[in-house]
Amino acid sequence: MKILVTGGLGFIGSHTVVELQKEGFNVVVIDNLSNASESVLDGIAAISGKKPAFEKIDLRDKASVSDFFRRYNDVLGVIHFAASKAVGESVENPLLYYENNINALVYLLQELSQKPEAHFIFSSSCTVYGQAEKMPITEDASVQPAMSPYGNTKQIGEEIIQDVAKVTGIDAILLRYFNPIGAHDSAQIGELPIGVPQNLVPYITQTAMGLRKELSVYGNDYPTPDGTCIRDYIHVVDLANAHVTALKRLVEKKNIQKVETFNLGTGTGSSVLEVINAFEKVSGQKLPYKIVDRREGDVISAYASTDKANEILGWKTKLTLEDGLRSAWKWEQKVRS
Ligand code: WQD
Repeated sequence: MKILVTGGLGFIGSHTVVELQKEGFNVVVIDNLSNASESVLDGIAAISGKKPAFEKIDLRDKASVSDFFRRYNDVLGVIHFAASKAVGESVENPLLYYENNINALVYLLQELSQKPEAHFIFSSSCTVYGQAEKMPITEDASVQPAMSPYGNTKQIGEEIIQDVAKVTGIDAILLRYFNPIGAHDSAQIGELPIGVPQNLVPYITQTAMGLRKELSVYGNDYPTPDGTCIRDYIHVVDLANAHVTALKRLVEKKNIQKVETFNLGTGTGSSVLEVINAFEKVSGQKLPYKIVDRREGDVISAYASTDKANEILGWKTKLTLEDGLRSAWKWEQKVRS
């Protein structure tokens, strides 16, 4: 059985391809290279000893998607990462997000629904919870009205998959990520944000490299112990392994529901200031930062309940916040060397 990984040259996708190949899965990657470079294939090969088949395809092109499935008719499992994911950009350009994140999903599901059985793993996000009432956040926490078109595409995507799975041979697992950070410890692959990083950890590592003058901390007047927002920072390698575990669960088909949902986090919340302190500890250098106004749309606190992923999926994180920051820093230094 061949496994298609869409967005497989991206940050989480490339780490997942490495773990899939280490587990002996036969992988083919689709990527349109809008947010990744083809050289990531060399990094994947350097780690896992194998370069996956690669097709440069834009999933918004329905004919190309159909042609791919004609040529790769042994693909029975899909892990779908390919999507636009910048919250701010989605507010400025909602149609780009609805076309890229929804149309592509529909075309993939149209192909898979032609098969008697198929397995689908969907890259979703804790953003669907908005500001959850209770911490840690469980999978049955209510899905709040989306705070951005990006978040809305994740909610709509999950609903599309629920509807399609009911009437086709597709079984699916929805994975709601918290905050992925870090890089493979070989520093062969990692996060390569284009332009000014939106996310905290790449901004920290670029500041530490002197590429940015200082980190702006978006508010320290939140109702949290040190006034800064709390998040659940999960190492990307742990996250990648969760996808392998989820795929095995679908393939082995042990009394699973048609669609299952899992939160993927460490279960521990860390504030922005705690992340800065942890980074200074692992890097051995002071990080220049200043407190500025809050960022529109930020939730106060979000960290995962890990019970369901531990008990049903049989997965838990092994790496710590410091492991994530240490690997992110090693990767940043390697990329800039
Ligand atoms: C984390 C914390 C910021 C940058 C987003 C998406 C989510 C997912 C992960 C895709 C917040 C603070 C950040 C900076 C800062 N993406 N911060 N200065 O917003 O929790 O989640 O990325 O799936 O869907 O919403 O992550 O890294 O942007 O911010 O103070 O320069 O760091 O205020 O508290 P976020 P983030």
